[in-house]
Amino acid sequence: MGLKFQAPRGTRDLLPDEIARWQWVEARAREVLGRYRYREIRTPIFEEFELFARTSGESSDVVQKEMYRFKDLGDRDLALRPENTAGVGRAYLEHGLAGQGRVHRLWYLGPMFRYGRPQKGRYRQFWQVGAEIIGTPAPGADVEMINLFVDLFEAWGFRDLVVAMNSVGTPASRRAYGDQLRAWLQPVSDRLGPDSQRRLEENPLRVLDTKDPRDHEAMKSLSAPMPRMLDSLDAESAAHWQAVLAGLDASGIRHELDHGLVRGLDYYTRTAFEVHDRSLGAQSALGGGGRYDGLIESLGGPSTPGVGFSIGLDRVVLVLEQRGFTPPETERSVYVVAMDATRSAAASLVRELRREFAVDADLEARAIGAQMKAADKSGARLAIILGEDEGKRGEVTLRDLAAGTQEVVKRERLIEALRARLKPENAETT
Ligand code: HAM
Repeated sequence: MGLKFQAPRGTRDLLPDEIARWQWVEARAREVLGRYRYREIRTPIFEEFELFARTSGESSDVVQKEMYRFKDLGDRDLALRPENTAGVGRAYLEHGLAGQGRVHRLWYLGPMFRYGRPQKGRYRQFWQVGAEIIGTPAPGADVEMINLFVDLFEAWGFRDLVVAMNSVGTPASRRAYGDQLRAWLQPVSDRLGPDSQRRLEENPLRVLDTKDPRDHEAMKSLSAPMPRMLDSLDAESAAHWQAVLAGLDASGIRHELDHGLVRGLDYYTRTAFEVHDRSLGAQSALGGGGRYDGLIESLGGPSTPGVGFSIGLDRVVLVLEQRGFTPPETERSVYVVAMDATRSAAASLVRELRREFAVDADLEARAIGAQMKAADKSGARLAIILGEDEGKRGEVTLRDLAAGTQEVVKRERLIEALRARLKPENAETT
């Protein structure tokens, strides 16, 4: 008989062997975010459906095809969050952070949900770490955001990142650009896939984001060059763009123009950016973000600019795994081996040691040989062997499991001896 229950399609169980990599990635992220003085925010994983429809855009794939939308028992129209900028914006307004006249630097980490076709690097439940600066239109905020974005990747060991950049202007300049794009695509409109034909009418910029090979073929066949959004920017957006590029150059961030970068969500204004890793195949975006100066206002709040990004942690972990990266062992771990006569002494020792060290011990009163084998397999650095005769002399044996050497130490000097041998290591960010 087959198994009755399996994890739902597109979701994964992350088992203890894989978790070390996740925890390492998350710990490095928290360190970097802390050094940037960002503060964590946690919002619900479901919100009113309308919140996402209003911000991500009715014509976006996320809203049209990928939403986990449901009615609760009170007949509320809810959705699992496909992303978290809308939720953070909602919380910001709901708790009156807007009235404080300050700039808020926030970060979050948690699961998001999109009903896409599962494939390598694309899941229906996936994790993001993200950051947002709410409350300033200054180009310096965009620059800091992109610095933080790149520094997170560096902390995870990514080198030579190049950030793809574009400006998507304002809603008005985007409309003008959309008209140009529609005119450019008109000669091949009947060769586009059905999705792009619909988007050509509703939101022509979305066509640039297509994954359909028919669309790429059709666009390639056009002799006129693709119109560029940067050529349609209003004066203020153009000045903002120049200031952001200058700031990136000043802080040593490598970046390149990508005229086709439009982002998949509708709330963006001006700066848009992404980072890709080709080793991931079709789902190559590791993270992306940009400015969203109209989002808070669209939720009924005062006009409040914002800028932020999110990074897909499943994809970051996948790349690290492909590179064979395993996090450095930082645990100060020991395994306590006991015999019948020393078992009760072991019980109190284990509890005492667990105030300071990572301690493993046998649960089943097994023979000493079985316990030594378990100690080797556990990955502990040291075994503490409580022998019967040594116990009578107030001594224990300390065995270095990697080196295979051992020595006898006085019970009252044990903690000291462990501290000397198990120095806390700093996790190296290689
Ligand atoms: P996004 O580009 O939709 O932006 O998602 C950011 C990242 O989440 C992607 O680059 C990718 O790494 C990861 N991701 C998205 N969908 C999936 C999936 N199905 N499976 C695995 N990973 C996925 C946002 O979500 C915006 N909230 C970013 C932002 C913040 N903009 C301003 N502030």
